[in-house]
Amino acid sequence: MKSTSLPKKVACVGAGIIGSSWALLFAMKGVEVFVYDADRASLERSKTKIKEMLSSLVGNGVLTARSAVPVLSRISPTDDLKGISQVDYVQESVTENLAVKVKALREIECEVSETSIIASSTSGLSISALQRGLRHPERSLVVHPFNPPHLIPLVELVPSEKTSERTVAAARRFMKGLGREPILVKKQLPGLAANRIQAAIFREVLNLLNDGVVGMEDLEKVFTAGLGIRLAVMGQFTTFSLATGEGGLGTYFECYGPHSSSILKTMETWTEPPRSAKAKAVAGEKELPVLSMGHEEALRWRDAKLIKLTRSLGYLS
Ligand SMILES: NC(=O)c1ccc[n+]([C@@H]2O[C@H](COP(=O)([O-])OP(=O)(O)OC[C@H]3O[C@@H](n4cnc5c(N)ncnc54)[C@H](O)[C@@H]3O)[C@@H](O)[C@H]2O)c1
Repeated sequence: MKSTSLPKKVACVGAGIIGSSWALLFAMKGVEVFVYDADRASLERSKTKIKEMLSSLVGNGVLTARSAVPVLSRISPTDDLKGISQVDYVQESVTENLAVKVKALREIECEVSETSIIASSTSGLSISALQRGLRHPERSLVVHPFNPPHLIPLVELVPSEKTSERTVAAARRFMKGLGREPILVKKQLPGLAANRIQAAIFREVLNLLNDGVVGMEDLEKVFTAGLGIRLAVMGQFTTFSLATGEGGLGTYFECYGPHSSSILKTMETWTEPPRSAKAKAVAGEKELPVLSMGHEEALRWRDAKLIKLTRSLGYLS
């Protein structure tokens, strides 16, 4: 991939939940995309999934039936990895297993040119471990999306010490060109940045449920009617800075620091949820209004809401 040009042809290797959504995103932005999966049945399911996601975009007014036609025509499913040889960028989204990914990345490298970027969607594996089998690790990195990537703008870019700066810059430029919001994660930590924060939140949510402090439906509202709305427009630093008049974060730490410490002292620090917390969550999930609709209906509901929200935030036209 040339250092200044954006990829015109890309490949999605692994066509499950994430690979299918990446493929749709690329195609929506005018990029030609080859979709490969080692399993033919998965490739077939991906075609159906992409059509369903596309029809949800049409149903929610992001595309018209007419403008959806060229989007679909830019996506070429293939059951032969040789079909991806012409691409400038590969987004690997195969099963989350180190051995499977290392093998897949090595196979991808054999098919594409030395300058093609190879990005992994991995949520939990380190890029250093994934690069082990590559002859040219400098053109690989993690480009971690959020489900579903065609609707959630954030992507986390994680290089290793072997990844070249040129690769990071090109991946960032490409993601920006797709209307994504790339952030750089400078150290390889489990969960990168966002999933570490999410894990901390989920621990406390389970803890409040387990201790009978707040019920499951009300805990959902903590996000949907409160924290989630505020955090959709500003991050935690801005939120707390604006909470204390004009003094900013300095005043926040002065005024609310002791209060915050007293909260933290009462919080659990377990690394595995207690069995009772898991049992309560599993027993209660079907009572939640959205989940009681059934899985497919809940996904349609989710995507319609995400489309409205990301649109109002300026990420979708
Ligand atoms: N699901 C999420 O919410 C989410 C979010 C962000 C990142 N991710 C990451 O995305 C990746 C894919 O996750 P998913 O949820 O789409 O999984 P999935 O199980 O839905 O899809 C994985 C696909 O990879 C295919 N596959 C396996 N080995 C292959 C190979 N050697 N070559 C080509 N295809 C192969 C499988 O047939 C399957 O279709 C994982 O690394 C995961 O950590 C997932």
